[in-house]
Amino acid sequence: MPGNKDSLTITDNRTGKTYELPILYGTYPKYGAAINAMDLRRIKASDADFGLLSLDPSFMNTASCKSSITFIDGERGILRYRGYGIEELARKSSFLEVAYLILDGELPTKPQLEEWTTRVTYHTMMHESLKRLMDGFRCGTHPMGSFIGTVAALSTFYPESKNVRSKENRREQIVRLIAKMPTIAAFAYRHSVGRPYVYPDNTLDYTGNFMSMLWKMAESRYEVNPVLAKALDILFILHADHEQNCSANSMRSIGSSQVDPYSALAGAAAALFGPLHGGANEAVLRMLDEIGSKNKVPEFIAGVKSGSGRLMGFGHRVYKNYDPRAKVIKRLADEVFEVTGRNPKLDIALELERIALEDEYFIKRKLYPNVDFYSGLIYQAMGFPVEMFPVLFSIPRTVGWIAQWEEMLMDADQKIARPRQIYLGADTRDYVVMSKRG
Ligand code: CMC
Repeated sequence: MPGNKDSLTITDNRTGKTYELPILYGTYPKYGAAINAMDLRRIKASDADFGLLSLDPSFMNTASCKSSITFIDGERGILRYRGYGIEELARKSSFLEVAYLILDGELPTKPQLEEWTTRVTYHTMMHESLKRLMDGFRCGTHPMGSFIGTVAALSTFYPESKNVRSKENRREQIVRLIAKMPTIAAFAYRHSVGRPYVYPDNTLDYTGNFMSMLWKMAESRYEVNPVLAKALDILFILHADHEQNCSANSMRSIGSSQVDPYSALAGAAAALFGPLHGGANEAVLRMLDEIGSKNKVPEFIAGVKSGSGRLMGFGHRVYKNYDPRAKVIKRLADEVFEVTGRNPKLDIALELERIALEDEYFIKRKLYPNVDFYSGLIYQAMGFPVEMFPVLFSIPRTVGWIAQWEEMLMDADQKIARPRQIYLGADTRDYVVMSKRG
């Protein structure tokens, strides 16, 4: 008989026994109703049994934590940090303000933001030995490889960072991480193209300083274009966190061993380096190059529909509607192209979007543009080579990674991450000596 109890009744047909499991809810019951997997352990075929496990490769339907940082409603195309809509934050806030919000849960007051900005600004320098370490990477090396290696090396410069239980100590490392990411990223880029490093200019703001470290040449002071600096700041806001994605999950998992945040963050950045995570905007550019011109778009779409490839920058595991970040980026593109000149690939992208959004194949599968569909076009127009795209993603995502890491450390339910397995290998066997093998 249907009831109104917040529980699940399971009958084990092996034994005929019935179990009642409580259902837990988050803020939005539609997305946050779950059973506790440990309750399944009570379900046993016999007393000697270990108890039932749930099998969920790639976490398709498993919540790994309770979190109050970021909320996504993929069906309605909603993304919120600490309850604030991404569109409003992109319109009204700065990246450092959003970083404060994500880490502390509240928007800062004016004095709080000033103090936070000053702290971040005065940690932008890096140790000269770290610079020499970066010199050791092969010339022409991929900037993301040297970025990951250098972030990991930070733990050797700040050995006290392993004291992850101290809030004061964590805060110190968090400021260092946010402050030094643009410096490491810019140095990784300059090294990859064989240019001398440019030291931070603390009279500039977060993105202005980053642009100066990237692109300053012989001039005494780099002239920051305010439209491009603002656009980069907005792109950083859009990429700051995205709840339990592959790299955030890596950060939590590595951090659960209580290793220092630099080592954990290098692991998260490594996860982001993979083409299925941080590399999709590069794939979009390659696809647009391959299509070549607007009149070839129908032919390309027909190919996608017949299974010859995917429309890169379309579709998302969570969003089954227009990715709200893609909407903001599309608007931003016009402002950037006013300054840089129009990226000629934009016309192909717009035509792809127009045709795909009217096509039954894409409508039926709920495939809409995601964040990567337009971001690569902007980055390219601003002068970034495609190798820098994952590095550009890592700078703002550092905020999300460390917020997720700190939340995990403070969560009394969290222990070292250690999944179970369903063993499919051989049963116990007698050892075979070499002369008798084969
Ligand atoms: N082009 C054409 N068909 C697609 C696409 C696409 N981009 N994405 C999914 N489909 C089809 C897929 O073939 C399948 O069709 P069918 O049901 O007939 O077999 C159906 O849609 C469901 O696809 P799926 O692979 O089960 O969906 P998923 O949720 O596992 O994959 C995805 C999500 C993002 C990996 C996928 O949509 C994709 O490969 N997109 C292109 C790559 C891309 O843009 N990635 C960036 C994601 S945003 C990054 C971020 O948020 O950090």
